[in-house]
Amino acid sequence: MYDIIVFGATSFVGRILVRYLLDRHGAADGGLRWAIAGRSASRLEALKAELGSPSLATIVVDAADAEGLRKLCAATGVVVSTVGPYALHGEPLVAACAATGTDYCDLTGEVQWIRRMILRHEAAARASGARIVHCCGFDSIPSDLGVQVLQRESMQRYGQPLERVRLRVKAMRGGASGGTVASLLNVVKEVRKDPALRAELANPYSLCVGAEPLQVVSADAGFAPCVLPAQALVLLTVQLQLTDGPWYASQMLLLGTGDNESRRLKDVAGL
Ligand SMILES: NC(=O)c1ccc[n+]([C@@H]2O[C@H](COP(=O)([O-])OP(=O)(O)OC[C@H]3O[C@@H](n4cnc5c(N)ncnc54)[C@H](OP(=O)(O)O)[C@@H]3O)[C@@H](O)[C@H]2O)c1
Repeated sequence: MYDIIVFGATSFVGRILVRYLLDRHGAADGGLRWAIAGRSASRLEALKAELGSPSLATIVVDAADAEGLRKLCAATGVVVSTVGPYALHGEPLVAACAATGTDYCDLTGEVQWIRRMILRHEAAARASGARIVHCCGFDSIPSDLGVQVLQRESMQRYGQPLERVRLRVKAMRGGASGGTVASLLNVVKEVRKDPALRAELANPYSLCVGAEPLQVVSADAGFAPCVLPAQALVLLTVQLQLTDGPWYASQMLLLGTGDNESRRLKDVAGL
């Protein structure tokens, strides 16, 4: 039995995660029991050779193999999936985790797909106790942890939570990975097929299925819009409100460098 299985270990982000786990916990004989999984035995072997870690446990399973995914779930407490685009490959694993009570996380930003997963699999996940956590990527984690740290600090210092938290990014490195580009292209394709999706994607509360947000999140006048799916931030806000009381909206505002817009934003933000 493993603590964590990284499904999609050969992906761009999977490789980063696997290297991190290896550096921190070593291969299977460390404190954490973990394994890598993917659809191609040869690519998993090549990854192990590249990492210099031949003893790392591997599981070969395709994202469409429902029975294989159930076996994968039976072998672990948590599955981390980096197999994307999630709208094309992700549902059978979410279904298997929801059915078997296996905890799951991913780093999707495909809002239309997340909504579908909530509508189709939330009931089974609630019944089995599986925790299905989407959006564990750049879209949510900095704001998630940022809000949590700030609100804890505020409670400690002032005995009450901050009314509002805003995340501002002064600079950012890197670009979109291959999987991210493929996911975006797939969203465009889906919207072309089903124009009603446009409204869903534009609604920051489309993921608040069955939960009423306490406060409306809106971009401040004069600031750039959030570069990341607003739904992910709203979901976070709702989760925090439900679990920890009145923790308010987190907005991500990207401040680039050089151009007029960024200079104006920096003036407004006092940076
Ligand atoms: N939120 C964020 O911050 C963030 C950042 C980066 C990426 N992402 C998302 O993360 C996902 C992965 O991105 P990436 O750039 O790392 O992807 P990638 O490098 O293109 O890798 C895709 C992975 O999916 C696997 N895969 C494809 N079809 C499969 C199938 N039928 N069965 C099993 N595995 C299959 C591939 O396996 P093979 O190697 O065998 O082909 C590969 O491991 C994307 O959805 C992307 O949008 C999110």
